[in-house]
Amino acid sequence: MFLEKIKLENFRNYSSCEIDFHEKINIITGDNAQGKTNLLESIYFSSFIRSFRTSSDREMISFGKDHLRVCSSFSKNGETDLVEIAMDRSGRKIAKINGIKRDRLRDVVSDYYVVVFSPEDMKIVKDEPERRRNFLDREICQMSLSYFESLAVYKKLLLQRNSYLKEEKIDETLLDIWDENLAKEGSNIIRKRKGFVDKLSSISEKIHGGITDGSEISEIVYCPNIEWRESDEEQRELFKSILLENRKKDMMHGTTSSGPHKDDLDIMIDGVSTRKFGSQGQQRTAALSLKLAEIELIKEEKGDYPILLLDDVLSELDEKRQRYLVDHLEHTQLFITAAEVPQDIIRYFPQNKKLVIEKGTVKGQ
Ligand SMILES: Nc1ncnc2c1ncn2[C@@H]1O[C@H](COP(=O)(O)OP(=O)(O)OP(=O)(O)O)[C@@H](O)[C@H]1O
Ligand SMILES: [Mg+2]
Repeated sequence: MFLEKIKLENFRNYSSCEIDFHEKINIITGDNAQGKTNLLESIYFSSFIRSFRTSSDREMISFGKDHLRVCSSFSKNGETDLVEIAMDRSGRKIAKINGIKRDRLRDVVSDYYVVVFSPEDMKIVKDEPERRRNFLDREICQMSLSYFESLAVYKKLLLQRNSYLKEEKIDETLLDIWDENLAKEGSNIIRKRKGFVDKLSSISEKIHGGITDGSEISEIVYCPNIEWRESDEEQRELFKSILLENRKKDMMHGTTSSGPHKDDLDIMIDGVSTRKFGSQGQQRTAALSLKLAEIELIKEEKGDYPILLLDDVLSELDEKRQRYLVDHLEHTQLFITAAEVPQDIIRYFPQNKKLVIEKGTVKGQ
């Protein structure tokens, strides 16, 4: 799959702009604050319908404007799909594929795949658990509609339960209903996360071994807050019983203390937690292996490679890791932002397109 072109209207500092892309390598350069990351964000938005930088999507609408529009032409299996997403200041989004309005935004999310790798992702190993949960959610949503749905329902139920827990008078029969539903959606989330992490771990182990010439063995471990159970029913019952067990505590604190919203991941290198003990180099290798594994996994699950957005990340990798990266991305359309054109990459991929961004416009297309 690759992105042929994008048309932006009122997207951050792009008021109106149409850009054709190269099927393989697109190198986006320019001074600071000109709109390089904004462009990657718009590509991400056309597949995920949200930002990878902010949880407040409305920030993407240009200052002083009341809506934004992004039209992307994705080439898939020899055909071109025109994906159009519009959003207004209230945050309402409308998606059209080939001119036909889709009521379910998730159709877009699961049909066009993009992976982003930014300096922030380098911190995935060490940062707060929330970053690793977001990573899980983002990736599994691309692969599974039922995950996308369960996650949305789970988050809504959790918000409702938490606000109810803060009320003075609580009817516990109402809590029983919330717990039943939370356990149902939560169990689906746990099962999907477990399956995803196991698959990702086996791919990532090979990649990590490749980068370190076999000197390190890595494993990604899922650390669920509610212990994982093979049977769906047992999983639900376990979750429900823990919610009940913690009910008094939850009522006291006004929040739900257990569930997949407290899950985490750990990456082990030679059996030792990289989060706790890994060197900086090991953390970088682990983050890179994770990203490359994610790309392979999408290919396995979807039958097609995703688009890869590399935001200012090449300079964070040493030559050996850079080489490993480019060696393993021959099937992937790449968008690389950098302060300067990375000469090694140009030598490696003589077929490429260079875009120089200046104040939300493209010079030298
Ligand atoms: N909603 C918005 N409307 C208009 N302009 C915006 C909006 N949001 C951000 N900007 C502008 O976009 C610019 C930043 O763009 P971007 O983050 O893409 O820079 P960059 O080229 O990636 O820079 P760097 O090399 O520093 O990473 C800032 O000048 C900011 O004011
Ligand atoms: Mg940037």
